[in-house]
Amino acid sequence: MIHNAQQSDPAVPAIEVENLTVSYGAVPALLDVSFTIAKGQLVGVIGPNGSGKSTLIKTILGFLKPDVGTVRVLGTPVEKARKSVAYVPQRGTVDWDFPITVAEVAMMGRYGHIPWWSWGPSKEDKEIVDEALEMVRMQDLRHRQIGQLSGGQQQRVFMARALAQGAEVLLLDEPFAGVDAATERAILDVLENAKLSGRTLVVVHHDLATAAEYFDALLLLKQRLFALGTPDQVLHAELLSEVYEGNVRAFSQLQSSIERKG
Ligand SMILES: Nc1ncnc2c1ncn2[C@@H]1O[C@H](COP(=O)(O)OP(=O)(O)OP(=O)(O)O)[C@@H](O)[C@H]1O
Ligand SMILES: [Mg+2]
Repeated sequence: MIHNAQQSDPAVPAIEVENLTVSYGAVPALLDVSFTIAKGQLVGVIGPNGSGKSTLIKTILGFLKPDVGTVRVLGTPVEKARKSVAYVPQRGTVDWDFPITVAEVAMMGRYGHIPWWSWGPSKEDKEIVDEALEMVRMQDLRHRQIGQLSGGQQQRVFMARALAQGAEVLLLDEPFAGVDAATERAILDVLENAKLSGRTLVVVHHDLATAAEYFDALLLLKQRLFALGTPDQVLHAELLSEVYEGNVRAFSQLQSSIERKG
C-alpha cells in the first residue's frame, strides 16, 4: 500500500477560502468566494469555460496572489503546507516537448523529500515512485519520453507524480479531459483509492452527467461561488440554467443522468 497520507488533525479543514477575489488586470476571475472543504472528501469543481476553476486551483496552490481574501490549507497558509499539496495541471498547460521520461516526472514528486546533502533519491523514494507508476498503470512505459505518450497516458504520469509526493491534499485540473472510458475508469479508481487512504481531493470536472456519480460534494463556480453541497443539492435545473445560461449540452447530459438514476 502506498504510504498513507500523513494524517494531521481531522478537525482542521483541508481547505479554507475566505472572501477570495483574484484578478488578471482589471477583471476579477473570482469574486468574493468563500468556502470550507473538510478532510477526506472527493470534491468536484464545476462551472462553464472561463468561470475561474483553474484560477481557484492556482490560487489555492499559491501560484496566484489574491487581490483580497485568504486561503488556508490544512490550517496554515499554503506556503507552509507546500509538501502536503500536490497538483495535476490542466493538460494544455504543460510543455510536453520537455525531454524527460515517465519515471523522471514521477520522481519529481519526491524532490521535496530528498535532502540536499544526499546523492539523490533513496531506495525508498524509488519504491514509492514504482508504486505510484503501478497504481496508474504506467510501469511498462517508465522509460518513455513524455512527449511520446498519448493524452490519457500523460495525464496518468502527472497523477503518479502527485501520488509519489505523498501529499494529503491533491488538486487536479480536469484529469478526465480527453481520455477514453477505460482511462477515465482507471483515473477514477486512483482518486477513490487516494480518498480511502485519507487524502482530500479537489478535482475540476467538465461533465455534469458523471459529476453526481464521482464526487461527494460539488462546488459550482462562475466568478462567484454559486453553490457548494452534495451533488443532489448542487445539480439543480434552475441553478444550472443560471450558471450555464441554458447551455444545451450541459442540460441534455444532466437530463440523461437524472433518467439513469431514476
Ligand atoms: N493568464 C491570464 N491572463 C489574463 N486572463 C486570464 C488568464 N488566465 C485566465 N484568465 C481569464 O480569467 C477567467 C477565468 O479563467 P480560468 O482559466 O480560471 O477558467 P476555467 O474555469 O478554468 O476555464 P476552462 O474551463 O476553460 O479551463 C477567464 O475569463 C480567463 O480568460
Ligand atoms: Mg481551466
